[in-house]
Amino acid sequence: MKREFVYEGKAKRVYKTDDEKVYLIEYKDDATAFNGEKKETIENKGVINNKISAMLFELLENAGIETHFVKLIDERRMLVKAVEIIPIEVIVRNVAAGSLAKRLGFEEGTQLETTVLEFCYKNDELGDPLINDYHIQALKLAGKEEVEVIKQKALKINEILVDFFGKIGLKLIDFKLEFGRYDGRIILADEISPDTCRLWDKETNQKMDKDRFRRDLGKVEDAYKEVLRRVEEVL
Ligand code: C5P
Repeated sequence: MKREFVYEGKAKRVYKTDDEKVYLIEYKDDATAFNGEKKETIENKGVINNKISAMLFELLENAGIETHFVKLIDERRMLVKAVEIIPIEVIVRNVAAGSLAKRLGFEEGTQLETTVLEFCYKNDELGDPLINDYHIQALKLAGKEEVEVIKQKALKINEILVDFFGKIGLKLIDFKLEFGRYDGRIILADEISPDTCRLWDKETNQKMDKDRFRRDLGKVEDAYKEVLRRVEEVL
């Protein structure tokens, strides 16, 4: 069946369905980094991320966080609620790494005194710049109350995920969330996977996420598979 495209992102395609309130998301094997400058395919990545995201969305739903997830269709595809995406990348950090370590001079791996929330403007042309609450108002990306809801939800999601990953021997260093509007509510959208989280093995500190691709560390597919294996073991 030919389906109408809604959007093609770097890692996913979004299609309309017969139900205007439901979209179909297809997870691709394409991997990009540094705002699309580095591009490759990682075998089975789409399948792995589709499965991991589905299970983490279910975990969050069971903990009272509404997500866009409806159900899995097959290995690469899921149905989701047709949200209006808020063009803000919400970054939650527990341990200094990546751009935070670079920007503020933290040694990578430093436990942060407090959870750090950051916002980036989801805009490829501008390279997803860091923004604050005032920029969000000025750019009319979301209302003040919406921003408060997003902050509370992001912190709650962090608590749930830190606890969950801890149980499967992984440290949740940081991650990115996106939210959308649906029936007047703000709900969690996009994906939660090794593409969007930094996950380090608790014992060895081995990186089990997209940094293996970004930094050419090798064994990217193996790391993603291992995360899936551990998630599947408990969920
Ligand atoms: O690169 P940076 O350190 O700012 O990334 C913080 C976290 O957000 C990482 O877990 C990274 O995988 C995620 N992220 C993402 N998509 C982006 C930017 C960051 O998933 N466009």
